[in-house]
Amino acid sequence: MEESFREKTDSIREVFLYLKRFQGKSFVIKIDHPLTEAPVFPSLIRDLAELRNLGINILIVAGARERIDEVLTRYNIENTMQGAVRISSPDAMPFIKMAAFDVANRIMTVLTANEIRAVIGNWVRARTLGVVGGVDFMNTGKVERILTEQLEELINDGVVPIFPCIGWSSSGEPYNVSSNELASLLARSVNADKLFFVTKRHLECPSRMTVDEVDAFMKGAEGKDHELIDLLTNARETCSRGVKRVHIVDGNLDGVILQEVFSNLGVGTMVYANQYEQIRKVRLEEIPVVLRIMEPWVQAGHLLRRTHSELLGEAESIYVYEVDGSLHGAVRFHPFNARQAEIAGLAVDERYVELGIGRELVQFLMENARANGYRELFVLTTQAFDWFRQLGFRQADILSLPEQKRQSYDPERSSRIMLLTL
Ligand SMILES: CC(C)(COP(=O)(O)OP(=O)(O)OC[C@H]1O[C@@H](n2cnc3c(N)ncnc32)[C@H](O)[C@@H]1OP(=O)(O)O)[C@@H](O)C(=O)NCCC(=O)NCCS
Repeated sequence: MEESFREKTDSIREVFLYLKRFQGKSFVIKIDHPLTEAPVFPSLIRDLAELRNLGINILIVAGARERIDEVLTRYNIENTMQGAVRISSPDAMPFIKMAAFDVANRIMTVLTANEIRAVIGNWVRARTLGVVGGVDFMNTGKVERILTEQLEELINDGVVPIFPCIGWSSSGEPYNVSSNELASLLARSVNADKLFFVTKRHLECPSRMTVDEVDAFMKGAEGKDHELIDLLTNARETCSRGVKRVHIVDGNLDGVILQEVFSNLGVGTMVYANQYEQIRKVRLEEIPVVLRIMEPWVQAGHLLRRTHSELLGEAESIYVYEVDGSLHGAVRFHPFNARQAEIAGLAVDERYVELGIGRELVQFLMENARANGYRELFVLTTQAFDWFRQLGFRQADILSLPEQKRQSYDPERSSRIMLLTL
């Protein structure tokens, strides 16, 4: 009872933190058309409306691929694909526009029901894909730029702009553009904090990937899901050009956006730019949070208890793993001499274990140590020796420790000594 009371309090506090962090920031949300017919759609839009009410700028891109297929079939219009790209003939364009605006309209209707002002607009400049390899793509276009000057005022006014997957040339010629590409360029153009691809189905993919990991994942892409590859290609491009995070989430999960924004529990796939961007030195006022993260592990005997003043004295050596203003893990790095350094007090918040945070913290220290000329890293652990083994550490005896550490080694605790040669 007491535990769940504390957990709830912690969760509420965490929401405050995230709110402070995101107010005034922009999220671009691309929604696949089939979701507009799913039972979860009204709550998905209500969640976006609430985020808008809380001061987060919401911009929505309406994905219409399946709706365009439906409309073209219904009106007996030729629907030719070149790989995954549609060839949009001038005859088909009125129907493509109808389908694209229909999806945007559905989104606007539910936003209106939630008392949010929304506008569907023509803020996308596009040009034809042209003739590629002898194939004329006609009115299938490429997004050239987003007319952000016109958007700014609307956003500051609390309006939600909705983007159909149509762009126009400067002379007014309409083009059918990829909504994933559009969402990516939009996120970059408005300096969005996050881009969400809200998908119509679950896509099998690791829960966190850096841009480099996306590259490696896509190297063996043959036979992989086309939809996923297209999303990852756009996610990669978005992150390499300055947007911090792209989330690919299954829109059928009720509350999926709130979960990603307010807990970051890894419900979908998060793509981010720099592997270690989330790791930094602790701030003094965060020491109580570090102690809170350590506490369950201390109680379970995995870590030694440390006091607030002890950690305060060692603050220079403490690194934390931060996600959107909230700490998910901490570790200390103690150099002993020019060759040897210790990893100590590694703790990942119980709610965020098995997301790769522990591994990232240790790899960060390994790279730092290597770059600073250290030759050996060691750690004393009672429970996590197998885990350190996976990272290349091997068991060593007390003689391998620096003299000063040997003297403070507690034989009663019998921690195992794990050592890594850098
Ligand atoms: C050990 C610890 C840091 C791992 O952090 P984490 O972020 O959950 O770990 P990662 O996500 O990088 O790795 C998860 C993998 O390690 C495995 N794992 C987790 N704890 C393990 C342990 N004690 N022994 C062996 N394997 C372990 C998981 O099963 C998972 O395996 P999988 O990838 O095959 O699914 C975390 O459990 C922790 O804070 N432990 C308590 C403190 C501690 O022992 N610190 C070390 C001494 S300083």
